[in-house]
Amino acid sequence: MPGAAGEQSVSIRLIVNDRRHQLEASAGETLLGTLRERLALTGPKEACGEGECGACTVLVDGAPVASCILATGSVNGRAILTVEGLAGTGELTALQQAFVNHAAVQCGYCTPGVLMVLTALLDDVADPSEADIRRALAGNICRCTGYQQIIEAALDAAASVKP
Ligand code: FES
Ligand code: FES
Repeated sequence: MPGAAGEQSVSIRLIVNDRRHQLEASAGETLLGTLRERLALTGPKEACGEGECGACTVLVDGAPVASCILATGSVNGRAILTVEGLAGTGELTALQQAFVNHAAVQCGYCTPGVLMVLTALLDDVADPSEADIRRALAGNICRCTGYQQIIEAALDAAASVKP
């Protein structure tokens, strides 16, 4: 959350979903608060607020992070990707389309974070195994799907983007 009025602040530059931003962040401000409350990017969700559930996951320079426990001041100058940036061209990514095809979204609360960790995995590993996918999802809690549709969607997306 952005800090209280009067709290000490620091000037921060961020590139979020390919757009440059400059803002004053308070000492206690989290990246999740900055994204949701200052930049109106409400895809990343706040659930546990303690780095345990993965609902708030975004990519920082391509690596998944729990934005609810990351100080905005610690990511000065870094590139942030949120779920809103995945379909920046207006077309769903192969992973997003696979989620639709496999009904991997139920309540949807976990979905933005799950998509971000799997996007990072698919960027790093061209042909992930089910074990790779389960390992990538270890920090993301989904109470609805039992994970099977999510895993099938990730395998399908990986297969669809093979050369
Ligand atoms: Fe950040 Fe749960 S809300 S990990
Ligand atoms: Fe509901 Fe994952 S779809 S928590």
